[in-house]
Amino acid sequence: MATGLECQREQERDRGGDDATRTAAIDFAATWERLADTGALDCWTPDEDRAYWREHADSYGERFPDGSGSSPEPEALETIRSAVSEDDSVLELGPGTGRYTVEIAPLVDRVTAVDYSQAMLDQLRERLEAADITNVDTVSGRWPTVDVAPHDVVVTAWTMYSQREVARALEALVTATRKTLVVVDGLGAVPPHSRHLAEIRGEERTGQASRVLLLAGVLEELDVHADYSVEPAVREHIDVSPEAIARGLVGSDVDDATVTELVARLEPDLERVEREEQTYETSDDGTSTDDRWRYRYEIPAGILCWHRPELETEHTR
Ligand SMILES: C[S@@+](CC[C@H](N)C(=O)[O-])C[C@H]1O[C@@H](n2cnc3c(N)ncnc32)[C@H](O)[C@@H]1O
Repeated sequence: MATGLECQREQERDRGGDDATRTAAIDFAATWERLADTGALDCWTPDEDRAYWREHADSYGERFPDGSGSSPEPEALETIRSAVSEDDSVLELGPGTGRYTVEIAPLVDRVTAVDYSQAMLDQLRERLEAADITNVDTVSGRWPTVDVAPHDVVVTAWTMYSQREVARALEALVTATRKTLVVVDGLGAVPPHSRHLAEIRGEERTGQASRVLLLAGVLEELDVHADYSVEPAVREHIDVSPEAIARGLVGSDVDDATVTELVARLEPDLERVEREEQTYETSDDGTSTDDRWRYRYEIPAGILCWHRPELETEHTR
């Protein structure tokens, strides 16, 4: 008996369609570029991105719920855990401060961590040293032009925003993958503070396109059929005052009036942190303080996981 998919294909054949014409109906890579041009998909140049991380690398880890920067999205980490074994090599593109790296490294033989931000790499190296992790090679370079050999497992989380030529970037990831590729990225949810900021500036901020669905589409165009799942991810910012949180979100070059207005709009999402919940005992200037405020929001994460078919076949034999 024909399965649902077979029936669908038969019907498409009867209507004169085939796989090639269906794929051509949406050109995902071209759509990505068009959306990047219209602003519906944030796309940063490497220079903009590196400048951003120069200012934010030291506080990046604080965005994640336990404040230590060691909390990758749980389901994404589980997907990676079940893909790796102890003699594997892992290539991680865009490790940032090592949220995933420190979890993956103890499970595998070696990790190659490629990032183009010196500020992030400095944080990562410090963190690896503190955790006594010695099997990670940090590489300063830009994907996809950096020269790295294929690895058993390739992982990248929240990095595709820097790729205007997304098909080239994904193709290079696929080529670098011997066994399994895992890509984690957003579904287009705009955090409350970004929405408020756009309103304050009088900019029209429409929703963002789902990055991860477009990535899945581009992978399909490369004949790479990835599994797709979604999990809720939490981000939070904790600081000594609502103003400090707002300032941390917008950067130092934004005027005080904008920060004050942003604080007013964020108020419903701000809460004072009870003393026993506090993650830190000292403020940035080293003085002890009782005042801590938290801004917390949910942002769903999409997970794409692809196993290279030759090996899949070997595994299932
Ligand atoms: C948003 S952070 C994510 C960090 C980490 N993967 C995580 O989930 O916490 C993105 C990181 O990827 C790096 N990155 C982005 N695009 C890159 C590219 N094309 N080549 C190398 N590094 C890149 C940035 O410098 C930054 O460290």
